[in-house]
Amino acid sequence: MGKETRQKFDGYAAQYDEWFMKNEHLFTSELRLFKEVLGDITGKKLLSVGCGSGLFESYIDCTHVEGIEPSGDMGKIAEKRGVNIIKYGLIEEVDLPDNTYDIIYFNGSSSYMEDLTPVYAKSLRALKEGGRLILLDVPKESAFGFMYLLGKSLNTYDHEYLKDAMPELPYPLALAASGVWHTTEEKINVLKALGIEKFSFRQTLIKNPLYTNEEPEEVSEGYKSGGYVAIIAEK
Ligand SMILES: C[S@@+](CC[C@H](N)C(=O)[O-])C[C@H]1O[C@@H](n2cnc3c(N)ncnc32)[C@H](O)[C@@H]1O
Repeated sequence: MGKETRQKFDGYAAQYDEWFMKNEHLFTSELRLFKEVLGDITGKKLLSVGCGSGLFESYIDCTHVEGIEPSGDMGKIAEKRGVNIIKYGLIEEVDLPDNTYDIIYFNGSSSYMEDLTPVYAKSLRALKEGGRLILLDVPKESAFGFMYLLGKSLNTYDHEYLKDAMPELPYPLALAASGVWHTTEEKINVLKALGIEKFSFRQTLIKNPLYTNEEPEEVSEGYKSGGYVAIIAEK
């Protein structure tokens, strides 16, 4: 990838972080999920695929967290926050060493990737036996997924169909529109086809988007209700 290639998140770094800071309760809910699924990372080697600005990593000890990020705007902030960026580029373009990581996670980044099979296959090869691939995303089938797809098709959130139904500060339309929203079961099926048998699931943002930022939510088991869902797949 040439340095001049513009990435989906270039130019949005400040807006991205600001959105989470303004939606602080939504952020707290997602951060709770993120921390719970990572668990105790002491002494573990982690890779964050599409680490963005390292916002979530800034709330954990990221001494042993490596990152891959195509957007220079986002990645530079992540580096300042302590993430060790091993590649400014797309996961598709990276060679990862085999049997190396304890945890590889995609926090919101699968939602910007078309073909998940090769990137998950590559990640599974790079995990140690017993290591975990963790995928956190807004499911396509959730209320958030519908909202983003409707915003994308209308090219605005400011539409009579959405009147009185939108949260005060919705996720930037350009980032919703550039997403490739996948269902949770689509990702589970990709992993099953790659030989994964051990799964667990956690979710948050159970409330409708209009109310999500009223207060932080707890994390619960499962994946069929949440606006933010984690698939935990064990190699
Ligand atoms: C929704 S943001 C999430 C950022 C960060 N993980 C977080 O949770 O704040 C998605 C990130 O995935 C990155 N991304 C998109 N396509 C990618 C790809 N093919 N390989 C690696 N990262 C990618 C984007 O540049 C962006 O930073």
